[in-house]
Amino acid sequence: MKILVTGGLGFIGSNFITYFLQKHPEDSIVNLDKRTYAASAIAYEKLAKFPNYSFVLGDICDNELVLKLTKDIDAIVHFAAESHVDRSIEDLDPFVKTNILGTLNLLKAAHENKVKRLHHISTDEVFGSLDLDSREKFSEKTRYNPRNPYSASKASSDFFVNMYHETYGLETTITNCSNNFGPYQHPEKLIPKAILNLFSDKPVPIYGDGKNVRDWLYVEDHCSAIDLVLREGEPGESYCVSAGNEVSNIELVNSILQIMGKSNDLIKFVPDRPGHDRRYAIDATKIMKELGWKSKHTFRESLAKTIEWYKENRTLLAPAN
Ligand SMILES: NC(=O)c1ccc[n+]([C@@H]2O[C@H](COP(=O)([O-])OP(=O)(O)OC[C@H]3O[C@@H](n4cnc5c(N)ncnc54)[C@H](O)[C@@H]3O)[C@@H](O)[C@H]2O)c1
Repeated sequence: MKILVTGGLGFIGSNFITYFLQKHPEDSIVNLDKRTYAASAIAYEKLAKFPNYSFVLGDICDNELVLKLTKDIDAIVHFAAESHVDRSIEDLDPFVKTNILGTLNLLKAAHENKVKRLHHISTDEVFGSLDLDSREKFSEKTRYNPRNPYSASKASSDFFVNMYHETYGLETTITNCSNNFGPYQHPEKLIPKAILNLFSDKPVPIYGDGKNVRDWLYVEDHCSAIDLVLREGEPGESYCVSAGNEVSNIELVNSILQIMGKSNDLIKFVPDRPGHDRRYAIDATKIMKELGWKSKHTFRESLAKTIEWYKENRTLLAPAN
């Protein structure tokens, strides 16, 4: 299988390419990435070592380029996006452009070149927010209710993906999951920021009261779910992915402090972000029952492994914003 990956220098995309080429050495990947601030220079070097991998510098919004790159490929795995909620609140234009128009551009090209499958990586943020004291979880049946510019742009892209299946018969699939963690994540996100700050005994900022809950997924578990859905998912379907790790931000930072042997005094509460979703939790029954997917990694062990990776690579990383 020859695959076009978009955004493969980003956090999840770069982990996916590594996972995929190690597992399927007979397949090949072309990685189209614009190298925005979020692209990883470490991943750029590391991925270049795979023999059946090539890199194209470019924008998913570039019609001509995307048409050319989708000519002789079997599938597209689409990660490229503007992904940081705080940035989307400050300036939503790049989010509309890449996340909505860029996705539409890929869909058009996939249809025109009769690409057999397009898999779109989405988020559970499209479903909005759950109450802290409810036991409710998001599933494929949950109504879309995005509450910030990032999630609104992702929700919109999901609608275009589904529309391309219904109207034009393109074989599409979507995965929706909550926050990922693991190696290669940009230091602007909570876990890398906390780890990197703590290496130099700098305080770790936590929004509001720190009680916001996320359903943390180790990135390699996400990659195995994407690989499975790409090969065995039903066209036109969405799959929610979760390892069932519901953890509040304060619990998460406490775990990092504990593993790194640092004091709780290094926690610094900062004013909350507007429209901050309170709780995400996902019911992954469908992907587990229909496709037999299961997460393999425990939260605590993967968190320790992630800290270790940042320790080894800290000098090569861009500073947090
Ligand atoms: N990180 C998470 O926790 C998470 C959770 C659920 C879903 N997702 C989704 O997964 C996907 C990947 O997320 P991530 O955290 O790896 O993102 P990221 O911000 O780390 O990486 C995005 C990558 O896309 C590239 N890119 C951005 N705009 C582009 C464009 N116009 N053309 C080509 N390349 C472009 C960047 O250079 C970067 O390499 C996104 O679609 C995101 O919405 C992420």
